Amino acid sequence: IRTLDDLDASGTAVGVRVDINSPLTDDGQLADDARLRAHVDTLSELTERNARVAVLAHQGRPAGDEFMPLSAHARRLDELLDAPVEYIDATFCKAARDRIEALENGSVLVLENTRFYSEENMSFDPASAAETHLVDRLSMVLDVFVNDAFAAAHRSQPSIVGFAERLPSFGGRVMERELEALGEIRERPSPRVYVLGGAKVDDSIEIAETVLQSGIADTVLTTGVVGNAFLHASGVSLGAETASVVTSRARDRLDLAADLLERYPERIQTPVDVAVERDGERVEHSIESLPVEQPALDVGQETIDAYTEVFEAAGTVVLNGPAGVFEDERFAVGTTELYSGATDAGFSIVGGGDTAAALRQLGLSGFDHVSTGGGAALALLTGEQLPAVTALDSKT
Ligand code: 3PG
Repeated sequence: IRTLDDLDASGTAVGVRVDINSPLTDDGQLADDARLRAHVDTLSELTERNARVAVLAHQGRPAGDEFMPLSAHARRLDELLDAPVEYIDATFCKAARDRIEALENGSVLVLENTRFYSEENMSFDPASAAETHLVDRLSMVLDVFVNDAFAAAHRSQPSIVGFAERLPSFGGRVMERELEALGEIRERPSPRVYVLGGAKVDDSIEIAETVLQSGIADTVLTTGVVGNAFLHASGVSLGAETASVVTSRARDRLDLAADLLERYPERIQTPVDVAVERDGERVEHSIESLPVEQPALDVGQETIDAYTEVFEAAGTVVLNGPAGVFEDERFAVGTTELYSGATDAGFSIVGGGDTAAALRQLGLSGFDHVSTGGGAALALLTGEQLPAVTALDSKT
């Protein structure tokens, strides 16, 4: 891909797609700014080189709790960047285009959440993406496009794959760094162990299938809601609360999870115990003593011990998603201990926006690479081509 080294930025209107999709508090404030800080290099470089920068980004998914405007993100970017940062609650209408045209050299305008528009929530091939309203209208006022949204590079959404068809397009600094660190997974030492946790259950089940089938992973360890989903699929009755979280998060992928457990019984591990809250305390339950009324909020100690043993013999460990509700100290045990244990492996890679937030909050470090991407990092780590990169490459 072409990078910022190939771009003559001065005076140009640059559309920069970033991924600042972040954990939020209930009132829409940022609970973590790691992804915003990651993009400071690219944005500062552009403003220092006198570009006029329009920032495109999404937050959450329609109907989700974190589907919010980008006003808080813009305020934080204003603090993080030396350049002036403004925000407009519009993405590609005339008001937004006029503001882009009026941008001064070296200044930044954050446009509204791209996913507030229906087309952005669909997948397109690049040529069709180029015809969407968002790409079409913004291409009228942008001179070039920079894709720095590595964390969304696995999506074929208009703002990710459409602009390369219309404008000279470049990869930003985050994109460049991530592709370098994650591009050669098959060259990393084996055994390779993938630890899949967090709440993006549907994606994780598909990832498990790919890495097991292709031999990229020797073993998959499951934690978090993903672990609960595999347990549920294996026929363990977890209790009504956990079951309802699992089924809403797994969408139609539970059958695939059950199928994988049958095909790879030796290579997928599921938690052997879980932690719940009872009378304000963390209480652990072995799988045999389920179902339990309270929701499963973390993996238990026996699971931690079993997984840590796997890490000790691993050449490469890939971690994605927290093992439990780490925001609550009582249920951060699994995440803290498993992530610390993984640094003992030959090479450790952490993926995931929420995961990076968990690391910061829990003060965990010592990994060989911490990615800003969750699904995108895993797509690359499953040997897939990223649509964003394909789009950038095709026009180079
Ligand atoms: C992420 O958090 O993985 C990216 O921002 C993409 O979000 P999505 O899974 O909602 O497309």
